[in-house]
Amino acid sequence: MNDRLAVFPTLHDLSEEVATKLLDIADEATKQRGIMRIALAGGSTPKQLYQTLAHAMGRRPEWSKWVIYFGDERIVPLDDERSNFAMAHAALLDHVPIGESQIYVPQTHLSTPEEIVSRYEQTIRESFETPGEAPRFDVILLGLGSDGHTASLFPGKSALLEAHHLVVASTPGVLPPEVDRITFTLPFINAARNVFFLVSGADKTQAFSAAFNKRPLGDLKMTPAGLVHPTKGNLEWFITSDVTT
Ligand code: 6PG
Repeated sequence: MNDRLAVFPTLHDLSEEVATKLLDIADEATKQRGIMRIALAGGSTPKQLYQTLAHAMGRRPEWSKWVIYFGDERIVPLDDERSNFAMAHAALLDHVPIGESQIYVPQTHLSTPEEIVSRYEQTIRESFETPGEAPRFDVILLGLGSDGHTASLFPGKSALLEAHHLVVASTPGVLPPEVDRITFTLPFINAARNVFFLVSGADKTQAFSAAFNKRPLGDLKMTPAGLVHPTKGNLEWFITSDVTT
């Protein structure tokens, strides 16, 4: 079964639509549960979305109810230009009234990837206040690499197989930056209420077609992105038209 797909002429148009959907989900989530939990994606594609959200599009989001996490992070200082937190902070978090206590960032200064993972997993679980129940995000944002990776789940890496934890360490894939990372695991991503893929750029065409149609990509029987399928949630793809040509 193919998931929902929306195609936009420009990244600007895509970003506006996704921002509107996020604000709508936030309204619903805060009405239902008093909180909006979102995991941000890294890379460059979502930057425009974060900048659009920062202007709130004439709406009045209840930012005090938003809780921000990161679906993956590079193990670099948080002010490093390769840091996903640094990008989101510059594009969004530094421009909206979301306090530090509402932002859960992987502690990349800790000594080993395993320690960073263990601390982040504990922090996530504690922040959900419902020990025992699998933490479930309102939204997880994801990007797509031209090799079919998503978050920091790279083809052929053992992180893809992790089934018992929320977060796992991941060695670099073939695409830059070549640094160790931590990433949400597939089961954790698939537990979300909403998973949104944001994809732009003709270099993603083959990876998108393989992931969306759950088909092989070259020698790869299934892309990591193709393994994303929320068990009880909604999966939507937002792509620019250069991805389909
Ligand atoms: C990361 C991202 C990664 C990204 C894709 C697409 O930390 O690198 O989480 O999964 O979303 O590589 O990146 P672009 O948006 O820059 O093409």
